[in-house]
Amino acid sequence: MAEMIVALDVQTRQEAVERIRTIGDAVGFYKIGLELFTAEGPDVVKAVKDLGKKVFLDLKFHDIPRTVERSVRSGGRLGVDLMTIHASGGRAMIRAAAEAAAEFGAGGPRIVAVTVLTSLDRSDLEDAGVVGRTPAEQVLALARLATDSGAHGLVCSPMEVGSLSRTLKAGTIFVTPGVRPAGSAVGDQKRIATPADAVRDGSTHLVVGRPVLAAPDPAAAARAILAEMASAQ
Ligand code: C5P
Repeated sequence: MAEMIVALDVQTRQEAVERIRTIGDAVGFYKIGLELFTAEGPDVVKAVKDLGKKVFLDLKFHDIPRTVERSVRSGGRLGVDLMTIHASGGRAMIRAAAEAAAEFGAGGPRIVAVTVLTSLDRSDLEDAGVVGRTPAEQVLALARLATDSGAHGLVCSPMEVGSLSRTLKAGTIFVTPGVRPAGSAVGDQKRIATPADAVRDGSTHLVVGRPVLAAPDPAAAARAILAEMASAQ
C-alpha cells in the first residue's frame, strides 16, 4: 500500500505545526527539507513527531562515510522514519548510512538515495565528468549501486519509477515527487504524473506539496489524492 508524504515547504516550525493540525488525521507522513531544517533545526523534527506523524528528513547527505554514518545516527535518535543520501557519495558512504540506520532496528530510518537530480541534464553530467552516458543510464547505474550497497530505496521522478521498479529487487522503496492530481495546477513541475499513475508504476511513497498545502481545503485535497492512490492498487 503506497503512502502519501506531504512536503512541509514552509519556513517556520509554527507554520509547519499549523499545517499539520489543519490537515489532521488524513495524512500521517511529512517531509522536512533543507529550507525548513536550516531555519528551525531538529526542533521541527521533534514537533512533527510529537504530533504523532512520521518524518521524511530530506537533507540529501553527501559526505565522507564517517560523517554520513554519524548524521544518520542523529536522525535515528530524533525518530526520523525516512532520510535521503546522494548515491554519488559512493559505495562506502551508502553502506555507512545503511549500517547506522540498521542500529535502530525495524522501526529505524529507511535510507533512500537520490541518483541524478532532476535539475541536471546531459551537459551538466558531462561538466561533472560523466561522459558517454545519458541521464537515464546514469540514474540506473547509481540506482543499482545504491540498492546493492544497502540503501532501502530511491528517490526518483515519476518518469523513471516504472523502469526502475521493473528492474530492481522487490521491496525497494520508490519515493516520487512531481505528483499532480488531474486538473490541479502544475506549478514549476515539468515532468508530472497523476497519483494513480505513480502508484501503478511502482511508487511506494508519493511526495505531494502544493496540491495539498495550497488547496482551499487541504484535508479534503489530501483525502482525494489518497482515494485516487487506493483506486490504483
Ligand atoms: O509542491 P510540489 O508538490 O511540487 O512539491 C514537491 C516536493 O518535492 C518539494 O518539496 C520539492 O522540493 C520536492 N522535489 C521535487 N522534485 C524533485 C525532487 C524533490 O519536486 N526532483
